[in-house]
Amino acid sequence: MLKAQFIFIVILILSSSCVPNEDVSEVILSSNKAPLDPHSYSNFQEINTNHLHLDLEINFENKTIYGVARHTMNNTSNVDTATFDIKALNIQKVTLGSTENEIETNFEIGENHKLKGQPLHVVLKPGSKQVNIYYQTTEKTEAIDWLSKELTFGKKHPYMYTQGQAILTRSWIPIQDTPQNRITYSAKVKVPKELIAIMSASNPKERNEKGVYEFEMKQAIPAYLIALAVGDMKYTSIGENSGVYSEPELADACAYEFVDLPKMIMAAEKLYGPYRWEQYDLLVLPYSFPFGGMENPRLTFASPTIIAGDRSSVSVIAHELAHSWSGNLVTNSTWNDFWLNEGFTVYFENRIMEEIYGAEVAEILRVIEKHELDQTLKVIETSEHPEDSRLKLELDSRSPDDGMNEIAYIKGAFFLRTIENKVGRKKFDKFLRDYFDKLAFETISTETFIDYLNAELLEPNKIDFNTEEWIYQPGIPENCVKVNSARLNKMASYASMINNGEDVFAKELKGVKRTDLTTQEWQAFIRNIADTVAPSKLQLIDEYLDFKGSGNRAIMSEWFQLNVKVGNKEVRPEMRSHLNLIGRRWLIEGIYQSLKDSRDTEDLEWAKNVFEEARNNYHHVSKITIEEILH
Ligand code: BES
Ligand code: ZN
Repeated sequence: MLKAQFIFIVILILSSSCVPNEDVSEVILSSNKAPLDPHSYSNFQEINTNHLHLDLEINFENKTIYGVARHTMNNTSNVDTATFDIKALNIQKVTLGSTENEIETNFEIGENHKLKGQPLHVVLKPGSKQVNIYYQTTEKTEAIDWLSKELTFGKKHPYMYTQGQAILTRSWIPIQDTPQNRITYSAKVKVPKELIAIMSASNPKERNEKGVYEFEMKQAIPAYLIALAVGDMKYTSIGENSGVYSEPELADACAYEFVDLPKMIMAAEKLYGPYRWEQYDLLVLPYSFPFGGMENPRLTFASPTIIAGDRSSVSVIAHELAHSWSGNLVTNSTWNDFWLNEGFTVYFENRIMEEIYGAEVAEILRVIEKHELDQTLKVIETSEHPEDSRLKLELDSRSPDDGMNEIAYIKGAFFLRTIENKVGRKKFDKFLRDYFDKLAFETISTETFIDYLNAELLEPNKIDFNTEEWIYQPGIPENCVKVNSARLNKMASYASMINNGEDVFAKELKGVKRTDLTTQEWQAFIRNIADTVAPSKLQLIDEYLDFKGSGNRAIMSEWFQLNVKVGNKEVRPEMRSHLNLIGRRWLIEGIYQSLKDSRDTEDLEWAKNVFEEARNNYHHVSKITIEEILH
């Protein structure tokens, strides 16, 4: 933080010859006050962890981690208490001092809050630098997904993985769980001998006979990026410093799907500077993984649903790779500033896609995004929280998850595209490249970004821009860049023909197979079919194109939603197995939502039944979302 502020002061001094001095110091003073994190109990501003060493034993029988979290701390304010975040953890004892000279100390655990968990206050001695917390995870630990062997591809071994973002790391590690504190970490992890452990750190490429693995993350990262997975895995190299971990059964399919990974890394580096994490690997998880991808440093976690067989979902990888800059190098200071992570990343993702696959593909992706943004805006406008369509959020007493929607991602990206459009790509790219260089390994607030943008880009180029409107007002400003794709328009026109009762399969789509066109084209097609068409129309489309049996989960998800709205129950068996198999939230929540919104009240009953049979196949974060939808 200090480095960021220093740079920022220098920038202001250098670039503000036209601003009177008092104003400058005012701005600096206000930016000096790093905002507290409303989602953390920790007193990191007084005493903070610099390095964490984890000693862990992973027990699949009890579905428990037995651990010691050894915090090396920096007591800047000479306080006598260090406060950590914990949630649903059993704390056995806390000691002070290095491993050979540990002395037990007192601690106190505060009241439990449904979202934030509990504060763990540890009593310090003068000069204590090392705090060691002995703990166990519990059945209620939300970060960890323990999978029985049936839920894996190989069906021979159990599997486990963690998901830390946004505030779940505290449920598997006692820690100061705020993005405002960056730490390095190391770990020693013991697992059953048949399995291998990998983390968001330096990783083994092969299993060893002892089942003990050691890790090191030398770059300072926020707590939400600490991650662990244990299972039967194989490493396949794809290029010099990149590769993919997966269950052995999936290894070849992964290698095929991700051939362009080295090209993506090169494109990203060419745009915004060197990749600073040495190695970039992917981990393809079992189906329960709740996200398309998660940008754990050095090791992106990914859903197997992106292995579509035709490389049609690789933009997810471009996205997670982009986080190696936006998010992992320059990090949002609180979850109210989440758009700084995701908006920049969606922008950057699209630039990588453009570099590799060309301008038309990138524009198609933007059109698809814009459609999703418009849909979300409509929902937010009439919701309990219409203010949620501002980029800067106010989630202080709510779950950070409430901000994980198209506003942060897509409105955020369109904000940056609109600036790019105004200043020109060349200047904007230079600005972004410097941004990542100067603020690397820093945590910044929206306000610091605004000051930086003014000082570095807008003022020097004498550009007037409605930044405040974009960030603090709901909705989308008038000057938002427009998007349009001829290829998607054509698909929309076929859908209109169907809506009008014309037979497109006799002419326009005659002989066309599903695999002849891209996922995005079919999405545009499905999105433009009216929910007033007869169910038999959808059955006919499935006869020609077999969306319901396609195995392309992005298409299937949209197709099932339309079928619910139309009331076509023919797709129920496929929809049921989709909901049972897939835990990726984005591919199931829309289906549950449409069943809930359906005029046919039997649909909600059906959804509740399916959820009962499927819920144990989902990670906690998906389970919670679906529960909220259905109840
Ligand atoms: N960091 C997010 C996932 C996340 C956000 C997890 C907030 C928990 C809390 C990840 O980078 C992401 O955005 N994933 C998207 C990818 C998509 C936008 C390409 C996903 O999973 O859908
Ligand atoms: Zn993201």
